[in-house]
Amino acid sequence: MLTRVAIVGCGYWGPNLIRNFFSSPHFRVGAVIDKDPARLESVRAIYPSLPLSQDFSAALAADIDLVVLATPPETHHALGMAALDAGKHLLIEKPMALESGHCRELNLRAAAKGLRILVDHTFLFNPAIEYIKSAIVSGDLGDLRYFDSTRINLGLFQERTNVVWDLAPHDFSIVDFLLDEKPATVAAVGAGHLDKDVENLAYVTFTYASGMICHFNFNWLSPVKVRKTLIGGSRKMILFDDTEPSEKLRVYDHGVERKPEGIKHSLLVDYRTGDIVIPKLPQVEALRKLVAHVHEVLHNGAPTAIGGDAGERIVRLVEAAQASMAQGGKPVAPVTA
Ligand SMILES: NC(=O)c1ccc[n+]([C@@H]2O[C@H](COP(=O)([O-])OP(=O)(O)OC[C@H]3O[C@@H](n4cnc5c(N)ncnc54)[C@H](O)[C@@H]3O)[C@@H](O)[C@H]2O)c1
Repeated sequence: MLTRVAIVGCGYWGPNLIRNFFSSPHFRVGAVIDKDPARLESVRAIYPSLPLSQDFSAALAADIDLVVLATPPETHHALGMAALDAGKHLLIEKPMALESGHCRELNLRAAAKGLRILVDHTFLFNPAIEYIKSAIVSGDLGDLRYFDSTRINLGLFQERTNVVWDLAPHDFSIVDFLLDEKPATVAAVGAGHLDKDVENLAYVTFTYASGMICHFNFNWLSPVKVRKTLIGGSRKMILFDDTEPSEKLRVYDHGVERKPEGIKHSLLVDYRTGDIVIPKLPQVEALRKLVAHVHEVLHNGAPTAIGGDAGERIVRLVEAAQASMAQGGKPVAPVTA
């Protein structure tokens, strides 16, 4: 049976959701909603058959099963609660909400009503991230040592959210998915150059009990767009460059090992520089896979890494980064549920 979906918000990201739900064999788009009529007109031009509405209550109609929220983050809690109260499953854009307490409320209400919440952490369905996950699970990378991500561009300044709320959910959801352990501390410094209360750049560091360390560089004031992540393991290292059109991943069989005791010369380490492999990745849009996954979860109860629990964890990490920035970079322990 087709799942009937209402998509709310047709700004920048919403049209990608409309396109993927529209082309999925598992869903029927029953309503597209935006309070801005101009946004609805742009949808009508491409999908003349879709029912459009300026009124959110169209998402609560009896013939809708799933409500997708692609509205600004500050609206997610109120619209999400209304959808749950009307008995609808939810797919919420990242970040799930702007307060972890709001995420918790959404999760509790969904559980009480026997409904599902999924959060669009799109990168978990990116073939490059899936490859990295399998290289970690298979032991190919060895012991993980670091994750270093640069996500910078001339960003769209937002009134209600800073660069961390905007960009960090991507990287935080990636490390939450890739690593078995959770961060012990979060430290962050940031700066707001146009409005001191709205950071447009931030440097965030996670430390872990194992010695693993993650570092993130987020910046809306960069003249160039950079999307590069290095994942360092004791056996291999991976460079993920998401701005590359096809060769997004490079796997380096490189490493450094300490020389055995007793043969120490001036150099204490041996360098290993082996092959560099560029894996062939499937050419499939991550959002298309995410939409297929939503069907698997709703219809077949498939396990998921993008549930409301993950959405809440990611918001807690953003809150920890925010709290550290407010204390000049002091490391804080993220609150666990
Ligand atoms: N997963 C991703 O890769 C990704 C990428 C970009 C944005 N996003 C997320 O998508 C969400 C939307 O971001 P965006 O950049 O598309 O924002 P946007 O401002 O471009 O679009 C939001 C739209 O929602 C509409 N809207 C706002 N409140 C509404 C309401 N109460 N009822 C109906 N319509 C309403 C606005 O009119 C607007 O057209 C955010 O949570 C953002 O973080 C996710």
